[in-house]
Amino acid sequence: MEGLPQPIRDPQNIHKKIFINNEFVDSVSGKSFPIINPTTGKKFCDVAEGDKEDIDKAVAAAKEAFKLGSTWRRMDASQRGRLLFKLADLLERDARLIASMITLEMGKTFLLAYFETLWGAGALRYFAGFADKLGGKTIPIDGDYFCFTRHEPVGVCGQIIPWNYPAVMFVWKIAPALACGCTTVIKPAEQTPLSALHIATLCKEVGIPSGVVNVVPGYGPTAGAALTSHPDVDKVAFTGSTEVGQIILQASGVNNIKRTTLELGGKSPIVVMDDANVDEAATFAHNGVMMNAGQCCYAGSRTFVHEKIYDQFIAKTRELAEKRLELTGDPFDPRTTHGPQVDETQYKKILELIDSGKKEGAKVESGGAALEREGFFIKPTVFSGVTDNMRIAKEEIFGPVQQIFKFKTLDEVIKRANSTEYGLAAAIFTTNVDNAMMFTQGVRAGTIWVNNYETLSAQAPFGGFKMSGIGRELGEYGLSAYQEVKSVIMKIPQKNS
Ligand code: NAI
Ligand code: MG
Repeated sequence: MEGLPQPIRDPQNIHKKIFINNEFVDSVSGKSFPIINPTTGKKFCDVAEGDKEDIDKAVAAAKEAFKLGSTWRRMDASQRGRLLFKLADLLERDARLIASMITLEMGKTFLLAYFETLWGAGALRYFAGFADKLGGKTIPIDGDYFCFTRHEPVGVCGQIIPWNYPAVMFVWKIAPALACGCTTVIKPAEQTPLSALHIATLCKEVGIPSGVVNVVPGYGPTAGAALTSHPDVDKVAFTGSTEVGQIILQASGVNNIKRTTLELGGKSPIVVMDDANVDEAATFAHNGVMMNAGQCCYAGSRTFVHEKIYDQFIAKTRELAEKRLELTGDPFDPRTTHGPQVDETQYKKILELIDSGKKEGAKVESGGAALEREGFFIKPTVFSGVTDNMRIAKEEIFGPVQQIFKFKTLDEVIKRANSTEYGLAAAIFTTNVDNAMMFTQGVRAGTIWVNNYETLSAQAPFGGFKMSGIGRELGEYGLSAYQEVKSVIMKIPQKNS
């Protein structure tokens, strides 16, 4: 383990207040809420609880910072980019600290949290480079006119993020917003405000003007709801459950018309053809559902295996799950690959779904229960013999639970892959290019992986079809959600000569 970054098990200077106008302030109500360490199940601190009044203050700050003539609006686009590059450097400088906070607040293994923070820095740099390259077009319209477009920042953003990737989600939201010149109010998930509040201090340290980035910790139905229905918020970006995505889509049309992007749940299929390298496919499929203790929106939670290689695939998968169980435990230990679930609610939800799988007749190949220790640990679980109508085949589990189905033909499996309300991601393992092309065309999902899984890049757009969301984050596509396009049409005086 030498040479690996080391965690800070007892981080000091944790910020526990609301961040508005580059200052930490108490909640208007004076209330606070507990942060629980999922590794022990015990509280380790309280954080100021934002509510409607605090959101009002934060939105007012963001609106002021967005006014024409403000420091932020007058700043050169290249300078905005420079601030984002610097923020990336500070994220790297503090990666051990941020990762340690994430391990404490959500139980993610320290190394994964560390690399998550570095990925965040990479995404910041990607968007930093765009800040001064967001030009419009000149358009040859009919008549004696000069027509051009300006790409302008959409305005005040309300950005609501989940707990599963606290650092990366924060960056995916602020980086395109700031590159485009917007201002923002972020509500981190109630489980994970500490890493968000630390990143807020870094925004101040690099010199992002006050009011441009505000962070209000609090609960969804109170602080979150106030933000998504606020009349002075121009754009909402949300990552989280499909259920809350539907509520937010409605809220965003109540007091005004907010531009809304949603990145929601999934039930992503992984298809393994009989010509695939079975061990390699089994390893991708295993990591694709178990990564981050199964708490990923793109988790490959439906594995379809061709009947000819089914038994071999299951044997390999069982072996991988057993190995993972041996590496389950204290998420601060750099050897650990599998930590606890984020909280008791998720833990109970997952165990209930595991129970339903057993009752509905799926076979437990590995795991299938909680780990007997304190905290919210669940054994890596593999079900075989899963059929399409079982609850575990349809519902997003968001835990370390793999469902394995058997299939015969590509046509059949494309239909089954599509028979879900979700459409976030899908994968096929095959050495036949025709299979890959037919699958790529036939499956309705925002990302298709061929012979790999969960390869994400700041350069490639990410988002969902169907009930997995609206819009795309990342890549050049991700910038359009943070810009308004203004057409300017000027009359050209004509001389007679
Ligand atoms: P959630 O969707 O309730 O929470 C995500 C964020 O939305 C949090 O910041 C929360 O405070 C906020 N929120 C909740 N209700 C809101 C409301 N009415 N208005 C505005 N904001 C609101 O997700 P939760 O409860 O943490 O997990 C439930 C399930 O959601 C999971 O089991 C999983 O299936 C799914 N989920 C999906 C994620 C993804 O990355 N797509 C991330 C987290 C959860
Ligand atoms: Mg919820």
